[in-house]
Amino acid sequence: MAKLTIRNAVKRYGALEVLHGVSVAAEDGEFVVLVGPSGCGKSTLLRMIAGLESISDGEIEIGDGIVNDLEPNERDIAMVFQSYALYPHMSVRDNMAFSLKLARRSRQEIERKVNDAASILDLTTLLDRYPRQLSGGQRQRVAMGRAIVRDPSVFLFDEPLSNLDAKLRVQMRTEIKTLHQRLGTTMVYVTHDQMEAMTMADRIVVMRAGHIEQVGSPLEIYDTPANSFVAGFIGSPSMNFIDGRVVEREGTLKLATAEGIDWPLPESARPHIGQPVQLGIRPEHITVGADGVKAKVTIIEPTGSETHLQLQAGSQPIVAAVRDRPSVSPGQSVTLGIDARKAHLFDPASGKRLH
Ligand SMILES: Nc1ncnc2c1ncn2[C@@H]1O[C@H](COP(=O)(O)OP(=O)(O)OP(=O)(O)O)[C@@H](O)[C@H]1O
Ligand SMILES: [Mg+2]
Repeated sequence: MAKLTIRNAVKRYGALEVLHGVSVAAEDGEFVVLVGPSGCGKSTLLRMIAGLESISDGEIEIGDGIVNDLEPNERDIAMVFQSYALYPHMSVRDNMAFSLKLARRSRQEIERKVNDAASILDLTTLLDRYPRQLSGGQRQRVAMGRAIVRDPSVFLFDEPLSNLDAKLRVQMRTEIKTLHQRLGTTMVYVTHDQMEAMTMADRIVVMRAGHIEQVGSPLEIYDTPANSFVAGFIGSPSMNFIDGRVVEREGTLKLATAEGIDWPLPESARPHIGQPVQLGIRPEHITVGADGVKAKVTIIEPTGSETHLQLQAGSQPIVAAVRDRPSVSPGQSVTLGIDARKAHLFDPASGKRLH
């Protein structure tokens, strides 16, 4: 087990800089998830930690040592890829034993480690099969088994579940989390799926375009996003954003939009009276049928546990997530209430959180 520290990591491909000085640490035993849109640099950062990409500038420390100049096999890490990368002509047992054989471990040690990993991952009865005789989820478990037998200080995962169907992903998510609780090893996990990040992480690192936008626990990031990008990226359906100006009407604060609609604002908006702000409101903090802003229902999306309503307030699209089953139909006029205490305010120019 070990702490992992990244200081001002820069990655350049020729003249193109894709990571612009990224600093972040994973504490010993922590489960850190790197999340962000496609192309933001998650895999690049993970591959730099693994030693599969060189580091253009900055430092990576694993345990007590700088590893910048170490080969991947000298870094005491194990990486699990999206593509599993199993050897097709080797049995499950041999796939899992391969790195230990390369390291010239004794036969007894190899057998013990492979058997232990197989039992943790529920692969014991599959040890003599070949990869082509396994389901996607079983192959993914073998890929994890290959990492576990090496008993690394740090596990690195690059979107390991993206080839699995939705149900299996949810199941494997739980299995990886269980594995982490059992092994207590530091893990860095890359995904573009915000739900995976929320459910698995001790700490989430939100990246965009080669920068870190925010680091925090899942609920910190959900409840107090540092800017409108993080606010819109984390959470499904996404947060609603409404632009306007803060005004005071008979003692209460409102967001007045350009088309003349007033939205409720929290008292914390008072320092911004007269200024343009962006109001952010999560779909679950909107109620339908209360007093409030007039809107028209456009689309109704039942998910079973809740219903997502697409609405239009003037030209402003709004999504509301309601728990009960609303008796509304497309085209119907309704009124929307928002829980102003749960509202978020952002600076419309920089996107930064205002309170
Ligand atoms: N060998 C390379 N040469 C030049 N640019 C590269 C190279 N490898 C990656 N990039 C660029 O670096 C940026 C980051 O890529 P990276 O693979 O880290 O993204 P990612 O966040 O993992 O995305 P995804 O979610 O799609 O996997 C991208 O803009 C990509 O085009
Ligand atoms: Mg990637």
